[in-house]
Amino acid sequence: MNNKHVIELKNITKKFALSGMETLALRGVNLNVTQGEYLSISGPSGCGKSTLLNILGLLDSPSTGTYTIAGNDVSNLDVNQRATLRNKHIGFVFQSFNLIDELNVFDNIALPIKYSSTALSNTALKERVMTCLELVQMTHRAEHRPNQLSGGQQQRIAIARALANQPDILLIDEPTGNLDSKNGETTRPYYCSDSLNNCPAPSRFSITTLHWCMPMKPSQIGLANHGKAFVY
Ligand SMILES: Nc1ncnc2c1ncn2[C@@H]1O[C@H](COP(=O)(O)OP(=O)(O)OP(=O)(O)O)[C@@H](O)[C@H]1O
Ligand SMILES: [Mg+2]
Repeated sequence: MNNKHVIELKNITKKFALSGMETLALRGVNLNVTQGEYLSISGPSGCGKSTLLNILGLLDSPSTGTYTIAGNDVSNLDVNQRATLRNKHIGFVFQSFNLIDELNVFDNIALPIKYSSTALSNTALKERVMTCLELVQMTHRAEHRPNQLSGGQQQRIAIARALANQPDILLIDEPTGNLDSKNGETTRPYYCSDSLNNCPAPSRFSITTLHWCMPMKPSQIGLANHGKAFVY
């Protein structure tokens, strides 16, 4: 992935139809992201931030428009093709973390590595997981289950899991949305670009979504580039 624009979205729309009710969640989004960029997508609740992030993260497809990663059109891939690309190139931190309560912290982070095409020895796997845990300063909680952790700690484990396959692209949905302001401050250094550049397997760039208090029209999805404000 060394194109200048690693990500290009052209006129992306997303329409949801549920019980006869149609929602046009994205109305023609254009976006270019360059290598190394740290970008924040801001906007009020319901404006389409998660929808856009899901499309960027290949969890969902656009209704219309073109999405290219490193020059390759990924707009219309099937579910399996998307899953393969995602596992290899994209780390995703969900708005509600989506950690697996039945697994301890170590196994939550090991899971995406086990699903990847790169087979690691048990020693290398352990080393990779512990490196990710060190990055978010959570090695002392490797044996805990997610529901035995605080909200901020769960958030850090979700970030560690997203970094497990050394992704090119790190996407974080509402990094502080579920946390109080103190915990929000605590987790911020783990996803801002300065920290990621210092980590052993730096992601090429990261994109986060954030609430934005200013009222915006739904057609103006908050694509304000607020990245600088979050770099420590
Ligand atoms: N799977 C779905 N089916 C139907 N409608 C959906 C679906 N997902 C999202 N929507 C609708 O699309 C719009 C955008 O939702 P989205 O979750 O992207 O908002 P958001 O900006 O992330 O909001 P928040 O800040 O509250 O997380 C909303 O009106 C939502 O109700
Ligand atoms: Mg959201």
